[in-house]
Amino acid sequence: MIARIFVRVGVAALALGACVASEALAQQPLKIGFIEPMTGQFASTGKQVAAAVKLYLAEHGDVVAGRKIEVLVRDDANAPETTKRYAQELVANDHVEILAGFGLTPLAFAAAPIATAAKTPMIVMSAGTFVIPQKSPYIIRTAFALPQNTAPIAMWAPKHGIKKVYTMVTDYGPGIDSETTFKNVFKANGGEIVGEVRVPQQNPDYAPFVQRAKDAKPDALFVFCPSGEGAAVMKQFAERGLAKAGIKLIGPGDVTDDDILDSMGDPAIGTITSQHYSADHPSAENKAYVAAFEKANPGMRPNFMSVGGWDGMELVYEVLKKTNGSAEGDKFIAAAKGMSWMSPRGKITVDPKTRDIIQNVYIREVKRVNGHLFNVEFDTIPAVRPDGTTE
Ligand code: DHB
Repeated sequence: MIARIFVRVGVAALALGACVASEALAQQPLKIGFIEPMTGQFASTGKQVAAAVKLYLAEHGDVVAGRKIEVLVRDDANAPETTKRYAQELVANDHVEILAGFGLTPLAFAAAPIATAAKTPMIVMSAGTFVIPQKSPYIIRTAFALPQNTAPIAMWAPKHGIKKVYTMVTDYGPGIDSETTFKNVFKANGGEIVGEVRVPQQNPDYAPFVQRAKDAKPDALFVFCPSGEGAAVMKQFAERGLAKAGIKLIGPGDVTDDDILDSMGDPAIGTITSQHYSADHPSAENKAYVAAFEKANPGMRPNFMSVGGWDGMELVYEVLKKTNGSAEGDKFIAAAKGMSWMSPRGKITVDPKTRDIIQNVYIREVKRVNGHLFNVEFDTIPAVRPDGTTE
């Protein structure tokens, strides 16, 4: 009898305990460790992505699937060892359940082993080197890949009178990806490379490189530079008189970054690029996004980095709805694969094979619209895979 009562009470206590535990989990905040360069040469990337993440929370509320979302922001100032240390501390001490951000390729590389060891989902919102998602099975990238953004301009150029090209890229992962893709696709479509140069990532002086490109007399100069560097490239392109010599400027759209495009002035007009996002993208979703972003951040225009942050949060919210609030690594990644939604940039899909996104890439020309410079889209290559191929 006594034993029976004990059993009954025990079961009741257990059941109550389980109930309390699940409610407690639901009430526990879900912390996201957000690491980006917020100061230094690449601060514009961190500021753009952080602004988009903040806007997403303001518009969607900070509770999803019963979990309160808390974003812990860390500034790595583009130093990979700092990214790594913050990722470790955020996981071990702050108990974040998701890592996010990663403004440049070396920063994503530095954090990937931490995500793998802790089985923590890692949302790459900014960096663009092709191999990044291969660095950890817990990475999902909501940004872009350089081959994806480069192949379309490499196909477009030879069909539009650009037969001889000089390439100038920043000398690290995304620049090398962009150079390789451009050369392969451009040559396969009848183009000729008349010269090539790689520029250092840290505080480069573009003048001698741009002069060398001019001296080779190409039809166009192809440029990849990371976000924030475009104005310095454009200044040299103008000062060295390339446009006057009949040389066009082409590339993936990083060089005509919306964050600084308007400050580049007339020399930027006529630049043709291919990329996944323009603030001028004429969809209802994008118009609402740009208006809300600019209202929340006076004086700032959202750029292609910002949408990586916005869609990274969309991914987190939609996955948590599917997993009832669990960010457990394997569950999170399984739920994310194949997910598709309408972004300000157009429809995007998480490719189950690569954990990268398949997205439209647009061909754009810099034009003055209502007194301001924009990348005006005039052609769409739908559903481009991260390697630059289409379905
Ligand atoms: C990367 C950084 C950028 O600013 C950019 O425009 C593209 C790629 C990178 O480091 O991966």
